[in-house]
Amino acid sequence: MDLNALVRARIPDARVDVPDRWIGIDAVDLADADALVCLLMDRVDGSVLARAPKLKVIANCAVGLDNVDVAAATFAGVAVTNTPDVLTEATAELTIALMFAAARRLPEAERLVRGGAWEGWRLDQMLGVQLSGKTLGIVGYGRIGRAVGAKARALGMRVVYTEDPSGAGGDATQPVAMVPPTTPTPSPVPAMRVTLDQLLATADVISLHCPLTRATKNLVDAARLAAMKPTAILVNTARGACVDLDALVDALTAGRLFAAALDVFPDEPRIEPRLLACPRAVLAPHIGSATTEARTQMAKLCADAVVSVLTGSRPPNMVNEVWIG
Ligand code: GLV
Repeated sequence: MDLNALVRARIPDARVDVPDRWIGIDAVDLADADALVCLLMDRVDGSVLARAPKLKVIANCAVGLDNVDVAAATFAGVAVTNTPDVLTEATAELTIALMFAAARRLPEAERLVRGGAWEGWRLDQMLGVQLSGKTLGIVGYGRIGRAVGAKARALGMRVVYTEDPSGAGGDATQPVAMVPPTTPTPSPVPAMRVTLDQLLATADVISLHCPLTRATKNLVDAARLAAMKPTAILVNTARGACVDLDALVDALTAGRLFAAALDVFPDEPRIEPRLLACPRAVLAPHIGSATTEARTQMAKLCADAVVSVLTGSRPPNMVNEVWIG
């Protein structure tokens, strides 16, 4: 995953600065930069663009683009790319892992064993939820949502879905201009399209795969949590701000939800202390795409995008329309 080597193999005289740890975009001197490879913690907005007068491409090393002001980049004539497809399976696999972890209370069970408090087998100990035969409700039926649906069907679950209310109709991957996916989306599985209200009322597991937009911010709020079954499990591998965390903590604390499994948080890496105190919250540090396979491909897609734009061709994963030449 050596960005320097990947770029210099194709543009030998390029100067590539890669900080050895994340220092935040504000600390990066962009005055001479032709290309920027950024991470999802970097907010790339008009003020960053103003510091980068020569910039031609922003390669966001993520599929979600909520951290990049794509409209401002387009206005400045800067290409924006993301990393679709290559992380679909990794994120779908983590979603399934979180779903099981929440349903079978795995972190709680592990804490019992590690804490030395396990006194032996009991008929009613650590009772969880069987997922086979249950209904999975997918919010945002794009690449990742479909991949999760296919896996859930194979596990014997019924799948219902709703498009995300932002109108993008997809996963956390395509909030703005659409480009054809570079690989085919997973083949459709029998799944029933329903309204969000129907999904909330019927699903045993609700999994979010929508992009973060104005329409999906706090999509899962107190009213929608109240509309879920008290036995439901909420899984979020999309973006933290899609869920009203205070309302979620209230619901978990009051036992109005069986469990929640979260890989993403509104203000990462800060975790709300009240959430830490919820035994039925399964928490992961934003690792949806964290497999060696996916992260290697993501880094390669970023390097390819930089090389393409700087050598005058349009990368397939470019999400906006600007002149490349
Ligand atoms: C991760 O959250 C991504 O958007 O790639």
